[in-house]
Amino acid sequence: MTSHNTFISLRGILAGLVSLLMIGASFAGDTSPDALLTQYQQAAGQKADRLRGQKFFNAKAANDLSCASCHGASPAQPGKHASTGKTIAPLAPLVNPDRFSDSAKVEKWFRRNCKDVLSRECTPLEKADVVAYLKEMK
Ligand code: HEC
Repeated sequence: MTSHNTFISLRGILAGLVSLLMIGASFAGDTSPDALLTQYQQAAGQKADRLRGQKFFNAKAANDLSCASCHGASPAQPGKHASTGKTIAPLAPLVNPDRFSDSAKVEKWFRRNCKDVLSRECTPLEKADVVAYLKEMK
């Protein structure tokens, strides 16, 4: 009887530890720049190109907006929102480790920002290029 109870409480402690680890992991994020790069390249069926990513990031669309309009021409530095003037933390993950660590956040902002700039969503290749460009920046 006693050993049976001990077994149950050990299982309880283990289950508690596992859920604590999972909570920790969800705070720390569920992805990384490398994982996203691989995922986008696979979806695109092509390799990313850093320089093409840099050009894309700085290219002004018909509405005169570019990614750099808010994130700045050097994404290792903080940006400034083009309409609200609010400071935006650097996009470069080597400078700001929060970046490209949460897949839902990344997808949400890619969707919103690409629509603002291009009036459409970004393609997987465009996202791969942007990640390839940003992930090396210091
Ligand atoms: C009108 C201003 C604006 C423009 C233009 C803009 N962004 Fe953003 N972007 C934001 C804001 C605001 C956030 C969310 C605030 C934050 O995370 O600091 C954000 C967040 C992001 C994120 C989230 C990254 C992460 O993991 O935290 C990505 C990726 C991103 N932008 C990419 C782009 C790309 C690519 C373009 C060009 C197609 C672009 N943005 C253009 C304002 C802008």
